[in-house]
Amino acid sequence: DKNAMWSGRFSESNTELVARLSESVSFDKRLYRQDIAGSQAHARMLAKVGVLAQADADKIVAGLDEIRAEIESGKFEWKTELEDVHMNIESRLTERIGDAGKRLHTGRSRNDQVATDIRLYVRDVIDNVVMLIDRLAAGLLDLAEREADSVMPGFTHLQIAQPVTFGHHMLAWREQIVRDRTRLVDCRKRLNLLPLGSAALAGTVYPLDRHYAAELLGFDGVTENSLDAVSDRDFAIEFCAAASLIMVHLSRWSEELILWSTPMFGFVNLPDRFCTGSSIMPQKKNPDVPELVRGKTGRVIGDLNALLVLMKGQPLAYNRDNQEDKEPLFDACDTLSICLEVYGEMAPHIRVNREACRAAAAKGFSTATDLADYLVGKGLPFRDAHHVVGATVGFAAKKGCDICELSLEELQTFSALIQKDVFDHITLDASVAARKTYGGTAPEQVRAAIARARAKL
Ligand code: ARG
Repeated sequence: DKNAMWSGRFSESNTELVARLSESVSFDKRLYRQDIAGSQAHARMLAKVGVLAQADADKIVAGLDEIRAEIESGKFEWKTELEDVHMNIESRLTERIGDAGKRLHTGRSRNDQVATDIRLYVRDVIDNVVMLIDRLAAGLLDLAEREADSVMPGFTHLQIAQPVTFGHHMLAWREQIVRDRTRLVDCRKRLNLLPLGSAALAGTVYPLDRHYAAELLGFDGVTENSLDAVSDRDFAIEFCAAASLIMVHLSRWSEELILWSTPMFGFVNLPDRFCTGSSIMPQKKNPDVPELVRGKTGRVIGDLNALLVLMKGQPLAYNRDNQEDKEPLFDACDTLSICLEVYGEMAPHIRVNREACRAAAAKGFSTATDLADYLVGKGLPFRDAHHVVGATVGFAAKKGCDICELSLEELQTFSALIQKDVFDHITLDASVAARKTYGGTAPEQVRAAIARARAKL
């Protein structure tokens, strides 16, 4: 069969092979809700400006409501011959309501139609993802509060550096996704403009009220230039870039959780429901959730790349290449959403092994900087203090103990400035408590940061 929607000038149908290459309904049918909402707004607007009889617009709106119900109850028959979601729905509409259905596409092209649908779709996804981020951020805040005093090693180069609090570490994670949230909110602002009315590329002869249609669809305004509007996929790229960055953050957390849940670290325990076992090794409890999230990060980065490469050679205006935007975009949406959701469920239930964290922090001379700072307090220039402590650490390392386990006499062989009060400065708790700068790791600062975050909610 020739395609009834556009085959007027054609003398033969597409081959089955070309039809298979061409079709997108198998994946773009998920835009049905946005497509229907867009068509309903277009029909209402056409009636408002007198291009369509009000009775026809009413039939279209009602017919599309019924089609939505058909789709949602699984009764709708999607036809590959009709290429895409747009022609499937329009053709079914005409089947149901006759000529009024044939008038719907007045002053519209699939080019501005699909641009509208995807914007609406990404807008919905952003709203959901923002909600998932909020839930995850709230979980991290609670976890940070519970572990505000728990000491763990802080790392640089993955070597023990200075003690930090577990709560502080959780707040660091939280900062990352709070920034990510602002990127999504920003992306939403730029995408929330209506392309409809751009028609195929040049605008249309009908006196469309684009602003009215925009209002009906909850857009903040309309796109400025018809050529740009039908060919712009910046918003999808921006979304995938923001999604990639979120995934990179989740992937970094995953890496930490995977390490932390090994017996060598033993800092955390992930609840069994987020882990899986081995079919051969009975003792295994594997951190599959963080591993999968780390793995899926590659997909989303790949999706971003796919969109960038898809666009790079395209002249204005619409090109069929753009049909290829959907699968990567949808994949990024799905992957991001499920990963955020699972982290939102898991994060509040991470069980912290405080003893193991503290024991690890006590290794690696993590309070050496505190000894240097102590000497600075006694008047020694920092560079000299650094040298003295270096020698002290070397001595303790040879002896096989920590610097706070050295006797006062031993310590004094490195500097006469060292007094008995040194032991109030070089314990783990003293070390974290002393880091009271705004944004620092001291429990009092962690609590202040939590209070600030709560006040902003
Ligand atoms: N399925 C197409 C897409 O996703 C819709 C627009 C088709 N426009 C066209 N002139 N063939 O991009």
